[in-house]
Amino acid sequence: FKCGVVIVAAGRGERAGQSAEGPKQYRTIGDRPVIAHTLDTFATWPGAGPIVVVIHPDDEALFDAACKRSVASDVIIVHGGATRQISVLAGLEALADIGARRVMIHDAVRPFADHALLSRCAAALSEDVRAVLPAVAVADTLKRAGKDGMVTETVPRDGLYGAQTPQTFDLQAILAAHREAARSGRTDFTDDASIAEWTGLKVVLVEGAVDNVKLTLKRDIAMADEKLNRIAL
Ligand code: C5P
Repeated sequence: FKCGVVIVAAGRGERAGQSAEGPKQYRTIGDRPVIAHTLDTFATWPGAGPIVVVIHPDDEALFDAACKRSVASDVIIVHGGATRQISVLAGLEALADIGARRVMIHDAVRPFADHALLSRCAAALSEDVRAVLPAVAVADTLKRAGKDGMVTETVPRDGLYGAQTPQTFDLQAILAAHREAARSGRTDFTDDASIAEWTGLKVVLVEGAVDNVKLTLKRDIAMADEKLNRIAL
């Protein structure tokens, strides 16, 4: 079964600082922009159905330039909104319009997702399991601290995971959950599994990938660039 794909790329990337290349998803790592790596990973994966990319209305030209050498053909472009949650909903509506049944929702700023990860996520979906979350067990010891920087507690890390994308869903189930969240006035969910949980949908974990990091800060972009240049040597 093919999975439709929503890649969200409408963020402003403020935590990564300003750059002449635009928001972080348009910064070059290795030989091409972050978003071109991400798009090509999905476009070359045999399980991918239609691909929707959600961009900021100001970024049309940036996106065209970034992806002109991409192997992806007939990508559907839609405009995002003020929060990730609003951007995802726009992408889901576009996929539903063309009749997709399953969806993978992925952050454009995770360019190192690999095909084995995508296949694990898709394979976990079934009649009973309508929401799949790739995640990695937390490695660090976790502390809770007050605003004053004083540690108040060590949080046992047993059973704690870092959530990744692509989160994979039955399209109608996650679309209904997203619409309900929007109707309720909440626009601040930071991932889609939490919206699924909020509406009572059962979410199943699959093993994420340690390399599948989210490029958030300026330093993350520099490290990703170095890594790809090292591989190319
Ligand atoms: O801000 P954060 O790092 O959580 O963003 C994760 C992904 O969501 C990024 O790929 C970003 O472009 C996207 N996003 C979006 N619309 C927003 C905010 C974030 O598509 N309003």
